[in-house]
Amino acid sequence: MNIQNIIAKKRDKKELSKEEIEYFVTNYTNGTIPDYQASALAMAIYINGMSYEETTNLSMAMAHSGDILDLSSLGTVVDKHSTGGIGDKVTLILAPLISSLGIPVAKMSGRGLGYTGGTIDKLESISGYQTNISIEQFMKNVKEIGISVIGQTLNLAPADKKLYALRDSISATESIPLIASSIMSKKIAAGASKIVLDVTCGSGAFMKTLPQAVTLAETMKKIGELAGKETICIITNMEEPLGKAVGNSLEVIEAIKALKGEMQEDVKEVVFELGAYMLKLAGKGNNIEENKKQLLEQIQNGKAYEKCKQWIKQQGGDINYLEDLETWPKAKFIIPVLANEDGYITKLDAQKVGEISMRLGAGRIRKEDSIDKDVGIILEKKIGDKVNKGDVLAYIHSNKEEVAKIEEKNLQNTYIIGEKSDRKNNILKII
Ligand code: URA
Repeated sequence: MNIQNIIAKKRDKKELSKEEIEYFVTNYTNGTIPDYQASALAMAIYINGMSYEETTNLSMAMAHSGDILDLSSLGTVVDKHSTGGIGDKVTLILAPLISSLGIPVAKMSGRGLGYTGGTIDKLESISGYQTNISIEQFMKNVKEIGISVIGQTLNLAPADKKLYALRDSISATESIPLIASSIMSKKIAAGASKIVLDVTCGSGAFMKTLPQAVTLAETMKKIGELAGKETICIITNMEEPLGKAVGNSLEVIEAIKALKGEMQEDVKEVVFELGAYMLKLAGKGNNIEENKKQLLEQIQNGKAYEKCKQWIKQQGGDINYLEDLETWPKAKFIIPVLANEDGYITKLDAQKVGEISMRLGAGRIRKEDSIDKDVGIILEKKIGDKVNKGDVLAYIHSNKEEVAKIEEKNLQNTYIIGEKSDRKNNILKII
């Protein structure tokens, strides 16, 4: 077997065998196959696609390229993963909320790249929070307090780690077989027995249309089931950012407020839908509407917030940041973005908002860039809201005045004001 023949086969739209896929994954992970040949194969897959069988074989080969966690001693662990979005603080709210109901949360999250955010960057904006604790400490935390969230520091699906960075650098990210195998390899390696996937759809997501999102969801569900892991996909709207805050500490503050009972409606819809299905998979209730009531109660009785404090403290975070939101450092320049006409917000392109936030310093243009945790955007108006000329649409939080001025104009232009229009439902489909 050799890699040139494998590349040529995919270039010529032929199906790769399990052995050929395993050969590629093993030899790319150990460095025998160089990046330029892996790039050629990734691009051939991007252009010509893969069958379900090939995608499943790629997922399994990448899952087995490193360690596979055994979480069986923790009981039924239900994992959650999002395909990526803007203002997506769902894990920060859902993890303690689910844990407060006695369901173990043992979660590995990622960092943001490009215009999409990452939970680990957000958590690191809490002073002292450790994202790279040992596997022993991780398991101990889950056993003792029912929750731990860490970064991808363990040797889980290393083939995906390499391939994902490579795809990002050659514009081969938005491919259904490549995304499905990337996510499912990590989920299989991370050891949970059940999985709820948030498949985002819209301008700020990798899947721009509903049919694309449905195909991705169906592909991942099938892979999950072939791996013996019950999987539910919830397709959610990412046409505009989720909630009000975009940017690391700003999103953590919004999540803390949500856990204290002040949750934005769109965030609530997504958190409760995902949470209700996580409860179902954990065997805590088959009725989705009843499950949502259980979740609401955990917010109202303060137990979800208490669990959050316990979790953050256990991982070294300073809980003063949770108790007193005035503790958070603020960006030097907080500049309002004003409406320049009367009407209704008809469009607020999530990708453009994500790109503005990234240029303010909240995200990384390159993998090695550092981020400014205090900067970002607070969206005061969202799609469907009525505005009058001069109203504040949003606030730019920046540490650089010049950048803030440029992005203020960009954000103003991103808001499209027109005739009254309805806000889209945030839950588009369950698969
Ligand atoms: N998230 C992942 O983990 N991988 C992808 O390919 C896309 C989103």
